[in-house]
Amino acid sequence: MANILTRTANSVGEWVNARAPALMPMYRKHMTEYYAPKSFNIWYIFGVLSLVALINQIVTGIFLTMHFKPSAAEAFASVEYIMRDVEWGWLIRYMHSTGASLFFIAVYLHMFRGLMYGSYQKPRELVWLLGMVIYLVLMAEAFMGYVLPWGQMSFWGAKVIISLFGAIPVIGQGLTEWIMGDYLPADATLNRFFALHVIALPLVLLLLVVLHLGALHEVGSNNPDGVEIKKGPKGNRWSPTAPADGIPFHPYYTVKDTVFVGFFLILAAFIIFFAPTMGGWFLEHDNFTEANRLVTPEHIKPVWYYTPYYAMLRVIPHKLSGVIVMFSAIAVLFMVPWLDRSKVKSYRYRGMLSKLMLGILAVSFVWLGKIGAGPGTDPVETIIGRVLTFLYFAFFITMPIWTKLDKTKPVPERVTTHD
Ligand code: HEM
Repeated sequence: MANILTRTANSVGEWVNARAPALMPMYRKHMTEYYAPKSFNIWYIFGVLSLVALINQIVTGIFLTMHFKPSAAEAFASVEYIMRDVEWGWLIRYMHSTGASLFFIAVYLHMFRGLMYGSYQKPRELVWLLGMVIYLVLMAEAFMGYVLPWGQMSFWGAKVIISLFGAIPVIGQGLTEWIMGDYLPADATLNRFFALHVIALPLVLLLLVVLHLGALHEVGSNNPDGVEIKKGPKGNRWSPTAPADGIPFHPYYTVKDTVFVGFFLILAAFIIFFAPTMGGWFLEHDNFTEANRLVTPEHIKPVWYYTPYYAMLRVIPHKLSGVIVMFSAIAVLFMVPWLDRSKVKSYRYRGMLSKLMLGILAVSFVWLGKIGAGPGTDPVETIIGRVLTFLYFAFFITMPIWTKLDKTKPVPERVTTHD
């Protein structure tokens, strides 16, 4: 049986190869002859998990589109219909809505790994920049998706966020109306967000992910030691010219990744089956009530993955300054490859100062996230929020200084495997 399968696969391979000879070299370049450092640890799984999450969003999204009605009059009821009457509709919907949060968890951990191991440093600046563009598009994609079910938080969240553009002098008001196609979020807004959410932005995201991985495969992956394996000794079991510390991506990492993807899917299934809304963190309670422009919810707040930035906006008393600070908080991440002056990539070989600063960044971001998700009425919390915003920016603005001052340890010539 196995023999027949191998022979069939081989002859199909030969048939394709004779007609498209450029495919096989591409497959080799990116799979069997892509030599990845042999020391990848658990942090290296989040890129693949982000990819799995992206595919899940696209597939479940296609099925949701079959029953969803993109009009202000029908959207909410069509989602209720999906949840109650469509066969397995509840599962598809929760896989999509809970999937969005799991996607962001994977992406945030993926970005944090990049910061820890200096994966943005030369020669991977482009990989980082493309990653940042993905992050921006992903935030826009998720925002527009959240508006579609036309619940209370869809409507009021859209109103608050789109109105932020109104703070821009001169063009602000016109810009807000242009985005919404009306004076309030309305049918026109829902229609255009639907078009952008289901086709335009997913296409852009897919293209960006291809470019992201293409850029990575040109320079090769970094690793927890921050050692450039291409500069190290040559020759391994598979090729005399390949890096000695590299192993073929396929089958070694494809098998390892499959195991972790399995764990991730089991965990995701538990969340989807037992806590799909995560107590209001993944899907807010207010969004189970239809949008009503005459009733403002008690607390308007975005989903958790935006709340760190939302907190920055809220703790700053001046609206335009708040908007500028909020967008700068994202913009500054683009600059990281040029702000870091350290000779060493990975935090394993950096000193206490770098570790402390990264710790401060992580704590500030998470804590701001918690503040942004709260009612925003506590004056002490507002002060804490301002301090945390200051610390967040201090990490980046003073980065050229502390990365230079920090005492680094000698980096080994070869990767180390901490088994
Ligand atoms: C849809 C979202 C994303 C997908 C599907 C994705 C996918 C991947 C994959 C599969 C890898 C190779 C495996 C790995 O190193 O984990 C990778 C590497 C990388 N990604 Fe992403 N990524 C995404 C978003 C981002 C974002 C938002 C950033 C940061 C701004 C980023 C920065 C990087 C960097 C720096 C590397 C190289 C890491 C290294 O070699 O150490 N990615 N990405």
